[in-house]
Amino acid sequence: MISKTIEAAINRQINHEITAAYNYLAISAWFEAETLPGFAAWFMIQRNEELQHAMRLYNYLLDRDGNVQLEAIAQPSAEFASITAAFEAALAMEKANTASINELYQMAKSEDDFATLSHLQWFLDEQVEEEKIMGESLAMVKLAGSDSSALLMLNEKFGSRRPEEEA
Ligand SMILES: [Fe+2]
Ligand SMILES: [Fe+2]
Repeated sequence: MISKTIEAAINRQINHEITAAYNYLAISAWFEAETLPGFAAWFMIQRNEELQHAMRLYNYLLDRDGNVQLEAIAQPSAEFASITAAFEAALAMEKANTASINELYQMAKSEDDFATLSHLQWFLDEQVEEEKIMGESLAMVKLAGSDSSALLMLNEKFGSRRPEEEA
């Protein structure tokens, strides 16, 4: 049986992951409106991954006989000043999520909840990957700047991303 503190923290993390999915969906819609379907498809994959993260935690909580409590999802930002601004918002969100995972890890550590620590290991690794990919993507769109041929090339490149196999 999982402690009430960890249970509440995992429920909060489920909310963060679903909120991230919702924000990525909003970013994807923004790129569709900007007629950049490659970027839109890329962010749709991000959205799907965040939902998978939420489900990992959801299933884990149920496996530990915890209670799932779904909380309200805040309205995401839907307007971005530029392509760069959209990627900056995404990177900031990933960093906030890393901080949240770290906090959850710290909490599980202080309770000697070894099973939760083990489960969170995957999330720590995933956040390293997420921040790396988002940081590199931001750097690329910054380099392209307002050069439309470079942006169209990036739109193609981002559009060729394939979803990862679910672990
Ligand atoms: Fe996530
Ligand atoms: Fe993420």
